Amino acid sequence: MHHLIAPSILAADFGNLQRDVELLNQSKADWIHVDIMDGRFVPNISFGFPVIEAVKKHAKKPLDVHLMIVEPERYIKAFKDAGASNITVHFEVCPNLHRTVQMIKELGCTAGVALNPHTPVNMLADIINDLDLVLIMSVNPGFGGQHFIENTYKKLHDVRSLSSFSNPNLLIEVDGGVGVNNASRLINAGANVLVAGNSVFSSADPAATISQLKSAE
Ligand code: DX5
Ligand code: ZN
Repeated sequence: MHHLIAPSILAADFGNLQRDVELLNQSKADWIHVDIMDGRFVPNISFGFPVIEAVKKHAKKPLDVHLMIVEPERYIKAFKDAGASNITVHFEVCPNLHRTVQMIKELGCTAGVALNPHTPVNMLADIINDLDLVLIMSVNPGFGGQHFIENTYKKLHDVRSLSSFSNPNLLIEVDGGVGVNNASRLINAGANVLVAGNSVFSSADPAATISQLKSAE
């Protein structure tokens, strides 16, 4: 499988959101990554439903919604209704993770679980076969533009080992500090979805950077 690119609109210009979504529509991006932060699970607040709906109105690509919020099960239906195709919840905030994953799937969405940098991959051993996607955080969630954590490579190998036999189609997404400098190494470590915020939107030519990320191997 060729890897997918999911630029994060957290790094877009919110005063020109339509322009930046159109840029992604015209680019080689596969998904549009949408970061939702609640100021409780993470020490930052991003944006909510009106902004997702505005992105959805213009987007020609699936919305990959990353919920950095406590009690995500309370809002899953609302995120689906706002336009989410993929919904990823954090392992650290889901005491009934199996139920939450089933809820996402029953709505017809791709179900993902994200792991913080300190959460071991083997915590997913008894749910890996139920998942469509695992998101490995390569920074502490809450902010764009942070420094990539090197232990991520080992965790990507761990996800690949855990899933390769029983769930070979699993999407393995890496999020935080991803750019053209580390894309190849991440893909070789097992990632097949690259999220990129600042490396795309702070570059002189975002569409060209997306193409570079897409052609990494
Ligand atoms: C961080 C978010 C990321 C963020 C990535 O909490 O989950 O998706 O937008 O931004 P960069 O690529 O700038 O690290
Ligand atoms: Zn994210």
